[in-house]
Amino acid sequence: MPLSTRTMALQPKHLTRSYVLLLFILFITSFISTTHAACSKMDQHSLFSSFDIASSSLNWTSQDCCRWEGITCDPAGRVTRLLLPSKRLKGVISPFLGNLTHLSHLNLSHNILYGHLEAGFFLSLSRLQILDLSYNLLSGELPLSPPPIYIRIVDLSSNQFNGTIPPSFLQRAWNLSNLNVSNNLLKGQIPSFNCSYSPFLRSLDFSHNDFSGIIPLGLGNCSKLELFRAGFNNLLGTLPSDIHKARALEEVSLPSNKLSGAIGENIANLTNLAILDLYSNQLSGTLPLHIGKLSRLKFIILHFNNLESFLPPSLMNCSSLTELNLGFNQLEGDLSVLNFSKLTQLIKLDLMSNHFTGPLPTSVYSCKSLIALRLSSNDLEGQIQHEILSLKSLSFLSLSFSRLTNVTGAMKILKDCERKVPVWLSKLKKMEVFDLSANRLTGSIPGWLGTLPSLYFINLDDNFISGEFPKELCRLKALRSEKAATQTDHGDFELPIYYRSVNVSASMLQYKYLSNMPPTISLRNNSLSGNIPRDIGQLQLLHRLDIGFNNFSGNIPHQISNLRNLEILDISGNHLFGEIPASLSNLNFLSSFSVAYNNLQGQIPLGTQLQGFNATAFEGNPGLCGSPLPNKCPKKSPGDSDTTKDREDVHDSGNGIPWLQISVSLGFIVGFWGVCGPLALSRSWRYTYFEFFSNIADRFVC
Ligand SMILES: *[C@@H]1O[C@H](CO)[C@@H](O)[C@H](O)[C@H]1NC(C)=O
Ligand SMILES: *[C@@H]1O[C@H](CO)[C@@H](O)[C@H](O)[C@H]1NC(C)=O
Ligand SMILES: *[C@@H]1O[C@H](CO)[C@@H](O)[C@H](O)[C@H]1NC(C)=O
Ligand SMILES: *[C@@H]1O[C@H](CO)[C@@H](O)[C@H](O)[C@H]1NC(C)=O
Ligand SMILES: *[C@@H]1O[C@H](CO)[C@@H](O)[C@H](O)[C@H]1NC(C)=O
Ligand SMILES: *[C@@H]1O[C@H](CO)[C@@H](O)[C@H](O)[C@H]1NC(C)=O
Ligand SMILES: *[C@@H]1O[C@H](CO)[C@@H](O)[C@H](O)[C@H]1NC(C)=O
Ligand SMILES: *[C@@H]1O[C@H](CO)[C@@H](O)[C@H](O)[C@H]1NC(C)=O
Ligand SMILES: *[C@@H]1O[C@H](CO)[C@@H](O)[C@H](O)[C@H]1NC(C)=O
Ligand SMILES: *[C@@H]1O[C@H](CO)[C@@H](O)[C@H](O)[C@H]1NC(C)=O
Ligand SMILES: *[C@@H]1O[C@H](CO)[C@@H](O)[C@H](O)[C@H]1NC(C)=O
Ligand SMILES: *[C@@H]1O[C@H](CO)[C@@H](O)[C@H](O)[C@H]1NC(C)=O
Repeated sequence: MPLSTRTMALQPKHLTRSYVLLLFILFITSFISTTHAACSKMDQHSLFSSFDIASSSLNWTSQDCCRWEGITCDPAGRVTRLLLPSKRLKGVISPFLGNLTHLSHLNLSHNILYGHLEAGFFLSLSRLQILDLSYNLLSGELPLSPPPIYIRIVDLSSNQFNGTIPPSFLQRAWNLSNLNVSNNLLKGQIPSFNCSYSPFLRSLDFSHNDFSGIIPLGLGNCSKLELFRAGFNNLLGTLPSDIHKARALEEVSLPSNKLSGAIGENIANLTNLAILDLYSNQLSGTLPLHIGKLSRLKFIILHFNNLESFLPPSLMNCSSLTELNLGFNQLEGDLSVLNFSKLTQLIKLDLMSNHFTGPLPTSVYSCKSLIALRLSSNDLEGQIQHEILSLKSLSFLSLSFSRLTNVTGAMKILKDCERKVPVWLSKLKKMEVFDLSANRLTGSIPGWLGTLPSLYFINLDDNFISGEFPKELCRLKALRSEKAATQTDHGDFELPIYYRSVNVSASMLQYKYLSNMPPTISLRNNSLSGNIPRDIGQLQLLHRLDIGFNNFSGNIPHQISNLRNLEILDISGNHLFGEIPASLSNLNFLSSFSVAYNNLQGQIPLGTQLQGFNATAFEGNPGLCGSPLPNKCPKKSPGDSDTTKDREDVHDSGNGIPWLQISVSLGFIVGFWGVCGPLALSRSWRYTYFEFFSNIADRFVC
C-alpha cells in the first residue's frame, strides 16, 4: 500500500515540489487500482484451466485477468464477457468454464473446439445473454438443460452437433431473438415455437441439418420474426398454415426439402417479404393470385417444384423483383400476355423447362437490368425481335429447345450487336466454354477454335457436322498446359448450368462455377470422318473425350494413352479397326469407357483394368475377343496391329451453308446460334443441351 495523505502531511517542509508531486501521483494510482478490482481468483483460475493458452494466439501474461485480451469484468472483478473468436483455441470446452458464473457474453466462434457440451452446460451460466460457439468442431447432443431466461442470441451453427433439439430448449427463453443451429447434424422435429414465451424472436435458422417431420405451428404468433430458414433438411408437409400471420417476415427460405401442397393465397399477406426461396421441393398448385401485393419481393426462387397452371398477372406488379426463378415446373400459358415492363429491377429471369407457349414477350425487352435470361425448353414460338438489343447488360441468353424460327434473322439481329470485328474477336479469345450441341449445324468444325487460348470445353454433340477432327484442336492451350488452364476465368455463372449426368442416369449435374466444368471435347453423334489425329495425345488436361457415333476410321492412336486425366473415353459407333492399344490401360482415372460398335480386332489387352469394364463397352466388334467378352481368342495372327495409311477425306461442306464461313463473317454471333438455333427437341441425347455461353466476364455486350 503506498503512502497515505496523512503520512505526506507529516513530511518536513524542505521537501521539494517534485517529491510532493510524485507522492500525489502515487496516491492517485493507488486510488484507481482499488476501484478497478483485480480479477477474481476463481475466475482467473477457471480461465487458465479452460483454455490451452500455449497453442492459441492469446497473450494472457499480465497479473490481472480483467486486463487480458477478450475479457471484460464487472466492478467486483467477476468476468462478464469472454470474447475470443478466431483465436486458434483448441481443445474441449472445459467444465471450468461453468465457474464463470457472471458471464453474460460468450463468443468462442471460429476456433478448433471439439467434444460435447455437458448436459448441465447452461445450469451455472444463469446470466448468459449471448452465446456464440459457431464454426467449431463441437459434437454430441445439445445440453439437456435449456439456455437461461436472459438468453438473447444462440449461435451453435457450423459444428457437428447431433441428436434432436430437446423440446424444452426454447421454452423459457423470454428474450430470445436469434437462434442459429444451421450446418450441424441435428435431426428429429424442428422444435415448436410459442412466441407467447419468446415474443422477441427475430431470426431462426435451422438450415443444413437432417430435420424431418412437419414444420410445427406457432410461428404465426411471432410478431417480430423477420427471418425463417430451414432449407436443406427433410421437412415434409405443407408450409405452416399460420405462417402468414407472422407479418414481420422478410425472408422465408426452405429450399431442398420435401414440402408439398400449394404455397397458398395467404402468403400474399406477408407484405414485408423480400425473399421467398422454396426451390427443390414438391410444391404444387398455382402461384398465389395476389402475389402482386408483395411489393417488396426481391427474390422468388421456386425452381424444381411441381407448380402448375398460369402465372398470375399480378406477379408483374412485384416491381422490386431482382430474381425470378420458376424453372423446372409445370407452368403453362401464353407468356406474351404478361406485361414484364414494370420489372425494371429484374436481373435474372429463368423460366426454363416449363410449358409456356406463345411468342417471346416483347415486354421482356423493357427489363433493362436483365443480365441473365433463360426461357429454354418451353414451347415458345416466333422470332427474336430487334428490341433484344436494348438489353445492354445481358450476358447470359438461353432460348434453346423451343420452337423459335428464323435463325437467319436472329443472327442478323444479334450481329448488329457488334460491328467492330476486332472487338468480337477479342471477346472470342476469352471464350472458355463452347456448347452448340443439339442444333442442326452442318459443315465442318472450324480450325480456328484451336487458337482460342482459354477454350477447354467443346460440346458439339448431336449435329450434322462433317469433315475431319481438326488437327488444330490438338493445340488448344487450355487443354495442354497447366499454366494456361489456371489463367482461365473462375467466375460463376449468372444462372447454374445443368447437364444430365453421364454415369448416374436421371440425375442432373449442376454447374455454378465455370472452373467446375470438366475439360471436355465431345463431338458425339455427328458425321465426322477420317482418322483420330495422333496429336490428340497432347491434350493432357482433357477429362472427357467423346467422339462416339461418327464415321471415324483408322486405328485407335496409342497416343490417347498420354491423356492421363481422362475419366471418360467413348469412341464407340465408328469404323475403327486394328487392335486396342495395350497402353490404354495407363488411363488410371477412366470411369467410363466404350469402344463398342467398331471393327476392332484381336485380344482385349490382358491383365489390365480395361477388363474391369462391362462387356457392353466392347460389344459389336466381331473381331474382338477375350475377357470381358464371352468369346475366347484364337491364336494371334500376325499383322493385326499394322497401322493403316491415313485416309484423307474430301472436305465436304454439305448442302447447308458452310459453318466456318458463317462464323467468320458473323463474328461471335456464331455462339448464339446454339441459343436461338433450330431447336427440335429429342429426348434420346446423351447430354441434354441447354444453352450456349461464352466467356463469363464480358460475354455479350451490345
Ligand atoms: C503481451 O502483452 C504484454 C502487455 O500486456 C506486452 O508487453 C507483450 O509484448 C505482449 N507479448 C506479445 C508477444 O505480444
Ligand atoms: C470449478 O469447476 C470445477 C469443474 O466443474 C469444479 O471441480 C470446481 O470445484 C469449481 N471451482 C470452484 C471454485 O467453484
Ligand atoms: C462473435 O465474434 C465474431 C467475430 O468478431 C462476430 O462476427 C460475431 O458477430 C460474434 N457473435 C455474436 C453473437 O455477437
Ligand atoms: C429481457 O430484456 C429486457 C430489456 O433488455 C430486460 O429488461 C428484461 O429484464 C429481460 N428479461 C429477461 C427475462 O431476461
Ligand atoms: C447462421 O450461421 C451460418 C454459418 O454457420 C451463416 O451462414 C448464416 O447466415 C447464419 N444465419 C443467420 C440467419 O444469420
Ligand atoms: C452423436 O455423435 C456422437 C459422437 O460424436 C455419437 O457417439 C452419438 O452416438 C451420436 N448421437 C446420435 C443421436 O446420433
Ligand atoms: C403459448 O403460451 C401461452 C402463454 O403462456 C399459452 O397460453 C399457450 O397455451 C401456449 N400455446 C401453446 C400452443 O403451447
Ligand atoms: C398463439 O397465441 C395465442 C394467444 O396468446 C395462444 O392462445 C395460442 O395458443 C398461440 N398459438 C400457438 C400455436 O402457439
Ligand atoms: C390474408 O389473406 C387472405 C387470403 O388472401 C385474405 O382473405 C385476408 O383478408 C388477408 N388478411 C389480411 C389481414 O390482409
Ligand atoms: C397492379 O397494380 C396496379 C397499380 O397498383 C393495379 O391497378 C392493378 O390492379 C394491379 N394488377 C393486378 C393484376 O393485380
Ligand atoms: C427473319 O428475321 C429478319 C430480321 O428480323 C426479318 O427481316 C425477316 O423478315 C424474317 N424472315 C421471316 C421469314 O420471318
Ligand atoms: C453390363 O451392362 C448391361 C446393360 O447396361 C447390364 O444389363 C449388365 O448387368 C451389365 N453387366 C455387368 C457385369 O455389370
